[in-house]
Amino acid sequence: MPTPPARPQRLPHAPTRGRALRTRDGACYRVRAIHPQDVPALQRAFQRLSPEQVRQRTFHRMNELSIEAATRFATVDPALGAAYVVVDAAGEIRGEARFFHDPVGGGAEFAVITDPALSGRGLGRALMRRLVDEARRRGLSHLWGTVLAQNTQMLEFSRRLGATREACLDEPGVVRVRLDLSRRLRRH
Ligand SMILES: CC(C)(COP(=O)(O)OP(=O)(O)OC[C@H]1O[C@@H](n2cnc3c(N)ncnc32)[C@H](O)[C@@H]1OP(=O)(O)O)[C@@H](O)C(=O)NCCC(=O)NCCS
Repeated sequence: MPTPPARPQRLPHAPTRGRALRTRDGACYRVRAIHPQDVPALQRAFQRLSPEQVRQRTFHRMNELSIEAATRFATVDPALGAAYVVVDAAGEIRGEARFFHDPVGGGAEFAVITDPALSGRGLGRALMRRLVDEARRRGLSHLWGTVLAQNTQMLEFSRRLGATREACLDEPGVVRVRLDLSRRLRRH
């Protein structure tokens, strides 16, 4: 999985407003770039995740998101990648997605996670749309992600976006999903 780099950078003083998102149930969110001020909200969001979700996202078991880890997650060098959050009306983070450029090959590795209480409302798809837009703007050819083979939710989620999948020969039990950016994101 991508490891967030901790490198100094120049960023806006406050989070951007980002894009408005209205989900199928009529609730309003904003999708915006992650910001260093998000550290406490990221730590709270982590507490709402299930242990299984954390394992699916990180491939590890973690009981809490330390302030150091949250700071690394919230501080992305734009030369290396991009990260976005979905924020609700109260300012709470309800989902997060990011990619990091491959050093060679013209693609980037992505990862995504959403609040389990809001599963199936379209937050994951909105985050992927934002990642894809930014990846295309940067001229990337594809996004790829590693997924545990038993993570049927993510595999179905990826399939519905139009991703193809292939076994990871060097990592048994892991599947690689790939979104070709020359094609439109599949709607349904
Ligand atoms: C996978 C995950 C990101 C999906 O997020 P989400 O916000 O529930 O997804 P959305 O509501 O945007 O759903 C998008 C599509 O996936 C489908 N989908 C979502 N969850 C699904 C499930 N459990 N079973 C079948 N399909 C599912 C939806 O039906 C929807 O399809 P549609 O837009 O064509 O109607 C979320 O479940 C998650 O955080 N999982 C744990 C973290 C993880 O595994 N990350 C992967 C590491 S890269």
